[in-house]
Amino acid sequence: MDYLKITSAKNLSGSIKISGAKNASLPLIAMTILAKNPVVIKNLPHVADIRTLLKLLSNLGASCEFAEDSVTVNTAALTQTKATYDIVKTMRASILVLGPILARFGHCEVSLPGGCAIGQRPIDLHLKALEQMGAKIEIHAGYVQATAPDGLKGCNIIFDKITVTGTANIVMAAALAHGITYITNAAREPEVVQLCEVLNASGVKIEGIGTAILSVHGTSGALVNIAPFAIIPDRIEAGTYLCAAAITKSEITLTNAEPKHLGAVLAKLEEMGCTFTLADDTITLHPTEVLKAVKIVTQEYPAFPTDMQAQFLALATQAEGTSIIEERLFENRFMHVSELQRMGAKITLNGHTATVNGKSELSGTDVMATDLRASSALVLAGLVADGETNVHRIYHLDRGYDSLEKKLENVGADIIRLKEK
Ligand code: EPZ
Repeated sequence: MDYLKITSAKNLSGSIKISGAKNASLPLIAMTILAKNPVVIKNLPHVADIRTLLKLLSNLGASCEFAEDSVTVNTAALTQTKATYDIVKTMRASILVLGPILARFGHCEVSLPGGCAIGQRPIDLHLKALEQMGAKIEIHAGYVQATAPDGLKGCNIIFDKITVTGTANIVMAAALAHGITYITNAAREPEVVQLCEVLNASGVKIEGIGTAILSVHGTSGALVNIAPFAIIPDRIEAGTYLCAAAITKSEITLTNAEPKHLGAVLAKLEEMGCTFTLADDTITLHPTEVLKAVKIVTQEYPAFPTDMQAQFLALATQAEGTSIIEERLFENRFMHVSELQRMGAKITLNGHTATVNGKSELSGTDVMATDLRASSALVLAGLVADGETNVHRIYHLDRGYDSLEKKLENVGADIIRLKEK
């Protein structure tokens, strides 16, 4: 296993190129199941979760051809419709193949994804919506067995809670359904928007894109022709590097970024004293010498994203005054707190709210990553802690960050990937 050794950074400087969004790539890869042609996907990030999903599709009979900055996915020969536990257990987003496989083949078996470190992560809303569309759903021996021999039927879906992959799953199922599917309380994340835009451009008429009410005009089982497209920039990766710049009081420019997807994150960094120069696809952060405390509540897009909560908690340990961060989406997304406390952070936890009691001098030590975004929070803390910080179990980090240590090293951070003895 690898770990990262970080020695506290002086100021960083320079620019970081943002990769394609992991959470846009996953549904868009699953979407190739709906295509009648080989689909060219550009700007895919080189991260473990993408490799896992491509491996899953290959196991089902699809073929993937890799080029310099793109992959071509051909699902014409896809015949298997069972996503087995061995793959699904490593990445719960595998559930994204359920909607498209069921819509295309009329049956699908997917291992229940189970929970993960940050929460129980149920899929009840996915399954309830598919049943409303006419699917028969059974849970047997840890697998979801879904059948819809006559295809899926468009209907009125109202999600009890906003679910990102739930919305993506149902949009893809609805794309091949008979009739129109109305989805109310749909997720509006940019990653869901891109999925809708690509499908709409491929002949699946979708109205209300970007809003909480979508209508998807199904093709009644006809596969669609999908032209090449490029994955949107990863807003969470970008937000993470903005926090790296703010915490080390460095001026950093992000390239290949999308400022429009980062409204709530930029607003909170401004509240803390940072300023920005924005252009089409670049963001330059101008740091503040004295970071101000902040209040954050995580909510669905376009509000402050839960995937940035851990990074801002690390940043808040360097702010003057008391910061309060409330996590409203997941029941167990504060596991980075105990590791930050071991580094000297003055954080108290009370249920879903973390209170940071002023600025603390952090000391480098051995810390353990517990989930993807917690890993990046520990790296941020390591950049300003006295001495060396070793972040262990960074297979979590590798799931969603493309070449993080190289990108930070290129702007002057003292960070190196080593092998556990
Ligand atoms: C997506 O997860 C992201 N993953 C997560 O990013 C992100 O944290 C999350 O959305 C929220 O923005 C991908 O896109 C691959 P949800 P998802 O369904 O779709 C409850 C990262 O770090 N819920 O929007 O699984 C659920 O328990 C990852 O990149 C149900 O109750 O999240 C949660 O409380 C972590 N029943 C809330 O809804 C369901 O059927 C939001 O979950 C589905 C969800």
